[in-house]
Amino acid sequence: MAILLTGGTGKTSLHLAALLQQANIPFLLTSRRGPSASSLPTVKFDWNDETTWTNAFSHRFPRSEKITAIYLLSGELAEPAPLLNKFIDLAHSEYGVKRFVLCSGSTAEMGGPYHGKIWQKLYEEKLEYCVLRPSWFMGQGHFETIKYKNTIFSACADGKIPFASAEDIARVAFHTLTDATPHNRSYRILGPELLTYDQIAEKLSIHLSKKITHVKLSPEERIQGFKDVGLPPHMSSFLTNLEIMAAEGKEAWDGNDVQLVTGRKPMSFDAFVQKNKQVWE
Ligand SMILES: NC(=O)c1ccc[n+]([C@@H]2O[C@H](COP(=O)([O-])OP(=O)(O)OC[C@H]3O[C@@H](n4cnc5c(N)ncnc54)[C@H](OP(=O)(O)O)[C@@H]3O)[C@@H](O)[C@H]2O)c1
Repeated sequence: MAILLTGGTGKTSLHLAALLQQANIPFLLTSRRGPSASSLPTVKFDWNDETTWTNAFSHRFPRSEKITAIYLLSGELAEPAPLLNKFIDLAHSEYGVKRFVLCSGSTAEMGGPYHGKIWQKLYEEKLEYCVLRPSWFMGQGHFETIKYKNTIFSACADGKIPFASAEDIARVAFHTLTDATPHNRSYRILGPELLTYDQIAEKLSIHLSKKITHVKLSPEERIQGFKDVGLPPHMSSFLTNLEIMAAEGKEAWDGNDVQLVTGRKPMSFDAFVQKNKQVWE
C-alpha cells in the first residue's frame, strides 16, 4: 500500500503526511514545483498539465509498493470535475488505483456543481471512495487584518460557523484512505462548536492578549474590501456570497462525523489558537 497526496504542500496534506509517516505507510506528495517543494518525497504534478499526471506512478517506493489510494485536492481550479475525473480514469484503469478520497466543501452535493460530478463518478462507477465535506477552516484568512489592525472584517453578521481544523480533516482522510474496509460515503467535517465572528474575536482577544474586533460589513462594503486588496471581481463576489450565506445561517451545520470516524472529539477553536498562536502575533 502507498498513498498519493495531491495538494501535497497544502495544509491538510501536510498533516496527513505526518499521520502516514507515524503509521509507517509509504506516501508521495505532489506539487507544481516538483521535488524541491518539500523535504518529503514529492513529484511534480499540475492539474492543468496532463503530462505531469503520470510522474507519480513511475516513482519508486522503498519496498516497491504501488499507489493504491489517492487523496484528491483540486486546489484553485475554477472547474475541477473534468480534470479530476480524467485523472481518476487514468489512475484506476491504467495504474490499478482502488480508492479515492476527495477533499471538497460543506455545500458539496453528489451530482451538483464544482466537486459534485466527481462524487457522482466515484459513486456510480462503484469505486472505493469517500467525500470529505469540511466547513470553513480554522484560522483561514483574516491573518493580516488581525495582526496589523486588530480587526476581522466580514459580511457574516451573526452567522454561526462550525470552523474545522486541518488536523481533523487529515485524521478523517487518514482513516478513509487506509482502513481495510472502504467507507464509500461522505462525511461532514465540523469543529465542536458553532461560532460567530464576534465570538472568534472574543476568543482571539483572550489568547492574543489584545482587543480584536469584528467589524460587520454590508455585502457591498465587503466586495469593495476584497477588490481593494487585489482580488479579481469574480472572486470578491464569490467570497462575499459565501459570507452572506453564513449570515443567513446556511453554514450552521451540526454533526459528529469526526468522532464517528476517528473516535476522538474534533479540535476546539481555543485549542487551535493555543497551538497556532504565532501566525497572528
Ligand atoms: N479554506 C477553507 O475554508 C475550505 C473550506 C472547505 C473546503 N475547503 C477545501 O479544501 C481545499 C484546500 O485544502 P488545503 O487547505 O489543504 O490546501 P491549501 O493549503 O489551500 O493548498 C492548496 C494546494 O493545492 C495545490 N495546487 C494548487 N493549484 C494546483 C494545480 N493547478 N495543480 C496541482 N496542485 C495545485 C498547491 O500545491 P503547489 O502550489 O505546491 O502546487 C497546494 O498544495 C480547497 O481546495 C477546498 O476544496 C477549504
